[in-house]
Amino acid sequence: MESRIVSSVPVFHSFLLELIEARLAIGLNDHSKTDIMRVAEELRTAGIIAGVQDLCDQLANQEITHPLWQRVIQVATIGETYFFRDRSQMDVLKHSTLPHLIQNRQDTGLKRLRIWSAGCSTGEEPYSIAIMLRDLVPDIKNWDIHILATDLNKNYLERAKRGLYRSWSFRSETPPTCQQQWFVKAEGGYQIDVSIREMVTFAPLNLADEMYTVFNHPVMQMDIILCRNVLIYFDRFTVSNIIKRFHGALNETGWLVLGHSESSHMTSQPFQVHNFDGAVHYQKQRPPECPTRATTPVMNNEPVSKPRLLAARLAQKHDPVVPAAERVTAPSRVPTDKLDPWTLAHYAANREDWEEALHWLNEAEQENVMRPEIHYLRGVIELQRDEIEKSLMSLRRAIYCKNDFVLAHFTVGEIFEKLGHLKKAASHWTHAHQILDCLSPDQFIEHSDKLTVEMLKTVLEYRLENLSAAPQRHL
Ligand SMILES: C[S@@+](CC[C@H](N)C(=O)[O-])C[C@H]1O[C@@H](n2cnc3c(N)ncnc32)[C@H](O)[C@@H]1O
Repeated sequence: MESRIVSSVPVFHSFLLELIEARLAIGLNDHSKTDIMRVAEELRTAGIIAGVQDLCDQLANQEITHPLWQRVIQVATIGETYFFRDRSQMDVLKHSTLPHLIQNRQDTGLKRLRIWSAGCSTGEEPYSIAIMLRDLVPDIKNWDIHILATDLNKNYLERAKRGLYRSWSFRSETPPTCQQQWFVKAEGGYQIDVSIREMVTFAPLNLADEMYTVFNHPVMQMDIILCRNVLIYFDRFTVSNIIKRFHGALNETGWLVLGHSESSHMTSQPFQVHNFDGAVHYQKQRPPECPTRATTPVMNNEPVSKPRLLAARLAQKHDPVVPAAERVTAPSRVPTDKLDPWTLAHYAANREDWEEALHWLNEAEQENVMRPEIHYLRGVIELQRDEIEKSLMSLRRAIYCKNDFVLAHFTVGEIFEKLGHLKKAASHWTHAHQILDCLSPDQFIEHSDKLTVEMLKTVLEYRLENLSAAPQRHL
């Protein structure tokens, strides 16, 4: 029998799942989706939330360390791991990367190592590195060694800190000496030696966040970053950004170690590829200086206009109900260095110079990745280029940055309708309509030129009406 929450307002169910996917940058499988709806029902029954809509509101306004997020994360993440997982990679670390690094540090007299296990789950990976270092560095007491281990899931981190493991954490790849030397049998499993436990610092961190800080300090100057079997859950855009951030967190010659299936993301990244027997490790390379773009538009000193309503223009292509926005032509005399990247992106988009616009959007994003209009404009451009999946991701990012970004909801609805996902389209359009309900009818919609709240409401009502008139099988 369906639980009450499953049969309640379904538009918020898909919104909840999309919110979780966007914030954690992961793709949820059907199993996780069912689990999340079960958790929502449990929370409602316990009186912690009023319903799915309330859960969406609360999650949208909270950090991932908040208990509600953690309840969701418990069922959304997979923590499969064990000691010395992927022997060939561990062997390369033990016999090549780490010995060279240690030798180099000894030669320079700077006995310091910084290693980060990103997505450490219950701690088997960082503890494996600590055990390795105990074997490799005889005078370890004279060294300044920090192993940072981070994960989204606080429950995993708590288990990691306890250091109590069941036999499932020791598999065939785990060297038998590991358990014999560094664990004692205890009630409920095997307890890790305190000297190993003390080498690792555990902290929560969402890899999808734009900045990596732990205890309010930026994560930087790392010698090695291990991020294995984590990126598989993310889309390419997110992976590319995570790898850029890893690049920034490494020191000049630092190493990045990914899981086997994750190496496909490393093409065109500023890392040198080192092929070892059965494993690939990546070493940081400084990116070449960014050349000035020859195609930079020349601007005049007209005042910069508001970003125009690309969505309306887009919608107009398909449906005359949305009024056209006036075309804004790029002025032509102010030097481009007087204008910010967002404005340049906007002008380029108005000229339909998509390449140029995307270039400036990337620049704008470097300045502030949380500006929703950047993701929105990118989404609209991608839609123009028929890059539907990319567009959906960008628009979802816009919504993640600004939950009430009405044009982003509207455009996502447009895409879903065209894809035949009518329930999802209805969900986004209903949400957009609810946002507009709180605004005055003659107010202009943010990021549009000439579209008022009333006009967009009319469009949405028309769209929703058409949907409900659609044949039942499509809904
Ligand atoms: C399969 S485990 C991998 C553990 C370990 N790296 C290994 O290879 O054995 C994946 C881990 O990534 C974590 N994870 C998933 N999404 C994350 C995110 N956005 N930020 C940080 N950690 C994340 C999960 O909680 C989980 O513990």
